[in-house]
Amino acid sequence: MTDGLPTRFPAGGLPPEVRIYEVGPRDGLQNEQSTVPVEVKAEFIHRLRDAGLRTIEATSFVHPKWVPQLADAEQLMPLISDLPRDLRLPVLVPNARGLERAVAHGCRDIAVFASATESFAKANLNRTLSESLAMFEPVVTRAKAEGQWVRGYVSMCFGDPWEGAVPLAQVVGVCRALLEMGCDELSLGDTIGVATPGHVSALLAALNEAGVPTGQLAVHFHDTYGQALSNTLAALQHGVATVDASAGGLGGCPYAKSATGNLATEDLVWMLRGLGIDTGVDLARLTDTSDWMAGRLGRPSPSRTVRALTGADTGPGTDQPSHKEQ
Ligand code: HMG
Ligand code: MG
Repeated sequence: MTDGLPTRFPAGGLPPEVRIYEVGPRDGLQNEQSTVPVEVKAEFIHRLRDAGLRTIEATSFVHPKWVPQLADAEQLMPLISDLPRDLRLPVLVPNARGLERAVAHGCRDIAVFASATESFAKANLNRTLSESLAMFEPVVTRAKAEGQWVRGYVSMCFGDPWEGAVPLAQVVGVCRALLEMGCDELSLGDTIGVATPGHVSALLAALNEAGVPTGQLAVHFHDTYGQALSNTLAALQHGVATVDASAGGLGGCPYAKSATGNLATEDLVWMLRGLGIDTGVDLARLTDTSDWMAGRLGRPSPSRTVRALTGADTGPGTDQPSHKEQ
């Protein structure tokens, strides 16, 4: 280890580059008890961009009563309109009304969000699974016709708090429906963080068998049981090269109480850097950003890497110097 970075030890059979899809400003902040001021959100996004992130999910155009923490989407967009056009700033859009609002604010990248289960479709979208797909269909068609890039999330791919185990075939069916609608990319959500690496490999194999190209897949792991990084490695070994993560490990879903924070971007960057995989992210700047955000939220970051690099774990009684002090 040198200069707060791990020694490079490339392992074979992994993608040479990984695209990090940063979800901190959306997934990270949608679950906060208090609403973060819009100026702080805008600064967070600017700082993430300065740290080298090139895809940053900015907010949601959902019903403001359903997610009050992101009800300021209209106020946020003008505050980040100075960011360069090569940056992707996707926003969540559930329906035609959401798309209208997003388009009116110049959004060029959108994400619809389906569920692999009936229970979560009902809890999160107030629809049955097939009604929710019917709601997304015209949104994706119109967005594609207007030249937008469209991501389709599939939540509860690995387990559901109401239904328990989720059959692989059920996940595959929803993935295929979203691809057939025209989604450019699918993100496989482990909303409550119950996946383990063998399960990840099995789902990816089932998707391949059903003709879903790995190049169109991303993974989205919440870290409830500490498995997010192991699950990510399993996905990389399968050829997945887009990984969702949240700066500092913020995150959760207000409509799935057992959901905790996402895979922390810093933990991901640390592992990828050690594996010799490029991400373009400056780990020191990113860590500073998460430390700054932790200060705004009034609690320490749950990311192990942020805690190690900022010396948060070096309290009285420990004789280990923090990396910052070395
Ligand atoms: P609904 O109550 O069924 O809405 O909610 P509706 O279609 O019956 O419409 C009712 C009223 O809401 C209408 O107004 C609409 O215009 C208005 P009225 O005519 O009565 O005056 N309305 C809207 N207003 C503003 N923006 C809109 C909008 N839509 C309707 N977009 C709805 C249905 C889908 C809107 C609601 O369920 C909703 O907003 N859900 C969003 C929940 C959410 O954001 N969850 C968190 C994100 S998902 C997640 O975190 C998982 C993920 O991270 C992946 C993973 O971890 O697995 C992505
Ligand atoms: Mg999520």
